Amino acid sequence: MQAIIDIAGLAKSYKSGFQALKSVDLQIGEGEIFALLGPNGAGKTTLISIVCGIVRATAGRVTVAGHDVVREYRAARAAIGLVPQELTVDAFAKVADTVAYSRGLFRKGRDTAHVEHVLKELSLFDKRDSMVMALSGGMKRRVMIAKALAHEPRILFLDEPTAGVDVELRRDMWAMIRRLRDTGVTVILTTHYIEEAEEMADRVGVIRRGEIILVEEKAALMRKLGRKQLTVQLRRPLVALPGELAPFDLERSANGLALTYTFDAQAADTGIAGLMRQLAACGLDVVDLQTRQSSLEDIFVSLVSEAS
Ligand SMILES: Nc1ncnc2c1ncn2[C@@H]1O[C@H](COP(=O)(O)OP(=O)(O)OP(=O)(O)O)[C@@H](O)[C@H]1O
Ligand SMILES: [Mg+2]
Repeated sequence: MQAIIDIAGLAKSYKSGFQALKSVDLQIGEGEIFALLGPNGAGKTTLISIVCGIVRATAGRVTVAGHDVVREYRAARAAIGLVPQELTVDAFAKVADTVAYSRGLFRKGRDTAHVEHVLKELSLFDKRDSMVMALSGGMKRRVMIAKALAHEPRILFLDEPTAGVDVELRRDMWAMIRRLRDTGVTVILTTHYIEEAEEMADRVGVIRRGEIILVEEKAALMRKLGRKQLTVQLRRPLVALPGELAPFDLERSANGLALTYTFDAQAADTGIAGLMRQLAACGLDVVDLQTRQSSLEDIFVSLVSEAS
């Protein structure tokens, strides 16, 4: 993986003494969509703000497209488009003007064609002459994205892009983000919506209390998602597992009345048929069955709620 963002040993203590980040290491690959998941106050915005040069780290270093975010701030920042968590739009400007203005901030020459392209991409072209204050909240959020893309950044940060956005617009945004990725833009987004990470991300990172506690390919997480459990209720308690059942690696409940089998729901042979035959061969009467699938949500909830 060619890293476009390299974060090493990053720590941040705010003036209050609160430690918002504790030694974060993270590499973001060029052209990937990376979703950063974490509960409120976990440190997502702090991390993004340091990468974008808005907040100064207490320790560690960050490079963006090979540029140190402190020593080579301008070069690093020029590679980044940032859509902040809070809506900050110029209410009295026209849509097209505010987007063109953002481009100018990066000393990029006027490029009406690019601005129009961005507005079309975000379904804002019809609104190009409207005052920002006359737009709905969801449209204002799209204006923020257009502003972030105005200077043709290689990296786009979206801090909670779909908070307070309706389902339809959220789907539009997902499609737009995928198209951006297809043009080679690297996208890092934070979200509370696990569905959003499931839908879009190539990789998922989970942050909790200032620490990255998991970084994984989404496909690998989906394989974990594919894990299912089958619980078999027996008529009579089983004191010990017969040797014939050993290959199934079953878990016996304390009272001996339930056996739990874990399997890969996507496997060609889940092993369930063999298990049922073997249970019958051992003379065990099954009175009930339940299956349960662990979701990314289960994984996430158990990760973030674990006592540290
Ligand atoms: N300027 C500041 N001064 C002091 N503490 C701060 C400051 N900014 C953030 N914090 C604290 O740092 C911690 C992390 O905040 P941060 O905004 O990074 O969280 P987050 O993961 O983005 O949360 P959310 O999901 O609510 O946006 C929080 O406890 C927050 O109160
Ligand atoms: Mg935040």
